[in-house]
Amino acid sequence: MRLPQVSMSFVWIILMCGFTSLVIIFGNLVFLGFHRHPTPPFKDIGSFNWKQGRQRLTQYGCGGCHIIPGVPGAVGRVGPSLENIHQQMFIAGSLTNDMERLSLWIQSPQKISPGSAMPDLGVTPEEAKDMAAYLYQVSQRRTETWYKRILSKLSLAQAF
Ligand code: HEC
Repeated sequence: MRLPQVSMSFVWIILMCGFTSLVIIFGNLVFLGFHRHPTPPFKDIGSFNWKQGRQRLTQYGCGGCHIIPGVPGAVGRVGPSLENIHQQMFIAGSLTNDMERLSLWIQSPQKISPGSAMPDLGVTPEEAKDMAAYLYQVSQRRTETWYKRILSKLSLAQAF
């Protein structure tokens, strides 16, 4: 049997494609392996209504003093930006950053830190929880990396 004639340039193209693929695969492994940033603990927002929370943030005018991603017009620079807030260890200077304390702060900042420039706005406990849920939800979604999103869809996120 006679083998088909294969030109040398065709062999080179195949070899170069193989080599390029290897470089890309290796590059990605390095990226996944060495570019891991410390992952802040995941904030479980429970069953609170974060969509409602976004409306409340608008309703109470929080955006007049804070930058809040996803809330139109929330570009205030009176207080700190609430972007990526789940990554912070503390909020308002001394509170451990969790659902409980974040919502307590939103409800009554003056009780926690008398004289703070953030006023008590008459927020109810339920509304405060919904707003806290939104702040964590938007922050966790935005900082999730594309490959983690794919991996978590494949239920492999724990491996990384
Ligand atoms: C008049 C301006 C003003 C308004 C209105 C306001 N805040 Fe604040 N907020 C501040 C200031 C100033 C701080 C910093 C206080 C501190 O650290 O003692 C702060 C701190 C915070 C923090 C802690 C941020 C951090 O990184 O430490 C959160 C969360 C927060 N505000 C949420 C809200 C929400 C939600 C609303 C609406 C219900 C709101 N704020 C309304 C001025 C405001």
